[in-house]
Amino acid sequence: MKLIVCESYEKMSEKAAEMIREQVLKKPDSVIGFATGSTPVGIYNRLADMYDKSELDMSGITSFNLDEYYPISNDSDKSYHYFMEQNLFSRVNISRDKINMLSGEAEDPLEECRRYEKRIEEAGGIDLQILGIGRNGHIGFNEPDKDLEANTHLTELSSDTIEANSRFFENKSLVPTHALTMGISTIFRSKKIILLANGRSKLNAIRELFSDHITTESPATMLKLHHDVTIICDYEAYSETSIGIDIGGMSVKIGAVENFKIIEKRIIDVVPGMTEKELIGAMTAVCADMKERYKANKIGIGVPGIIDENGVTSANLLFKQCKLDEIMSKALGVSVKAENDANCAALGEQAAGAGKGAANMLMVTLGTGIGGGIIINGRIYSGKGNAGEIGHIGIVPEGKPCGCGKRGCWERYASVSALIEMTEQAAEECPDSILAETAWNGVNGKTLFKAMDMGCDTAKHVFDEYIGYLAYGLDILVSVLDPELILIAGGISRENEKIIKPLSERMSVTVPVKTAELRGDAGILGAALL
Ligand code: F6R
Repeated sequence: MKLIVCESYEKMSEKAAEMIREQVLKKPDSVIGFATGSTPVGIYNRLADMYDKSELDMSGITSFNLDEYYPISNDSDKSYHYFMEQNLFSRVNISRDKINMLSGEAEDPLEECRRYEKRIEEAGGIDLQILGIGRNGHIGFNEPDKDLEANTHLTELSSDTIEANSRFFENKSLVPTHALTMGISTIFRSKKIILLANGRSKLNAIRELFSDHITTESPATMLKLHHDVTIICDYEAYSETSIGIDIGGMSVKIGAVENFKIIEKRIIDVVPGMTEKELIGAMTAVCADMKERYKANKIGIGVPGIIDENGVTSANLLFKQCKLDEIMSKALGVSVKAENDANCAALGEQAAGAGKGAANMLMVTLGTGIGGGIIINGRIYSGKGNAGEIGHIGIVPEGKPCGCGKRGCWERYASVSALIEMTEQAAEECPDSILAETAWNGVNGKTLFKAMDMGCDTAKHVFDEYIGYLAYGLDILVSVLDPELILIAGGISRENEKIIKPLSERMSVTVPVKTAELRGDAGILGAALL
């Protein structure tokens, strides 16, 4: 089965109409099978539009419709005869004598079905059949059942279909309980099939269609056996919602993510004294609610810290060797995967931010330390589990001591904490400088940039030294990883213009360097995509 996912109903209808036009251009006397319902209305509008603009000539085609309520008067405004007349037949130039529909007025429905099968055969079989899909997975009116009828037949509509179609009637009791419909084999004898689905109500049916099984309980799954089926869906009918969790020291951000967009975000504050159990409980409650409302079936968690066979140990020690993924998976009944937060952020940027299109990318997050996210061939590279600890590359032998126990680690020279330390030291050593004046009531990551803006040479000197360290570490990483792109993230990346150009100039290798775009959302997005 071929799948085309479109961003909107209009695009989907346009695509299908274009395929019909191609079929008619290729074979002007094509036999085309049409469907009714809300789904194909957009296609019919587009075909009428093409006809008005003389882009389409349907005079040679023969048409067969999938189904018709039974019994129903062909003149009734609820009949599919009426629907097709209003939506298509009166708007294009299909010859009246080549329009074939099952009659809801037929005295003998079985005879009517036989007549229809024969007519299709005489016409040489259907070249292209358009299908919608019921939310219960029906195609035509082949309803979920233990067994399905092969050929055109009289069928009883399921309560779900009556419920779904009641929107076209004054009330549910007026929906016909039976219909005449092409059977699964009738549909299968079509040379080519296009099935369309739009809207959230079709999500489950489409999931079934792309599942591993074929079952008469979801008749559309039979289409897996046909050799030429194209499924055209909009995002709502196709996409899966997953949940991304970004664990931070002060808060945990949880987002429902669909098509690379956060559709809902919730924040849990991590209050002092909160226990591991309490936080997991709060996270599970939010996820359970999102899972229920969005039918989400996957959760990804970005954790700042170590993930190994003993579980998750976060840097803030809220989690200590905690089997977070197992616990939450058991509580929620969905798959849960934990990954380092810097890796999640890199994945988020690569999927929906500044890294779009870069299959091999390095994201460097400058903060208290330096975090790294490595993407190789579009996937996170985590080595045995904790690759990306780039802040601890040794760049100065016997240099400044680091919290990790080693000396001379890159983050002691190129993190935001290191920048602040260098700023404080320079302000102390040059008390008459603009920098010292700017720093008098405290130093943060912006102090140095403020002083530089005021033309301070001392600040400029500190900045050059800092950029030198940053470039040195990046050079090492580029030699090892040869990425297509480097993204700089973290608060400091807001000084975009002041950093990126001098940094690129100081690096000895040429690799595009950009700042990350998604800020706080990259972690949620990436976690959801795990
Ligand atoms: C209509 C038909 C049905 C519909 C299905 C979806 O001829 O055979 O299978 O395609 O019920 O209906 P809508 O498009 O209204 O959601």
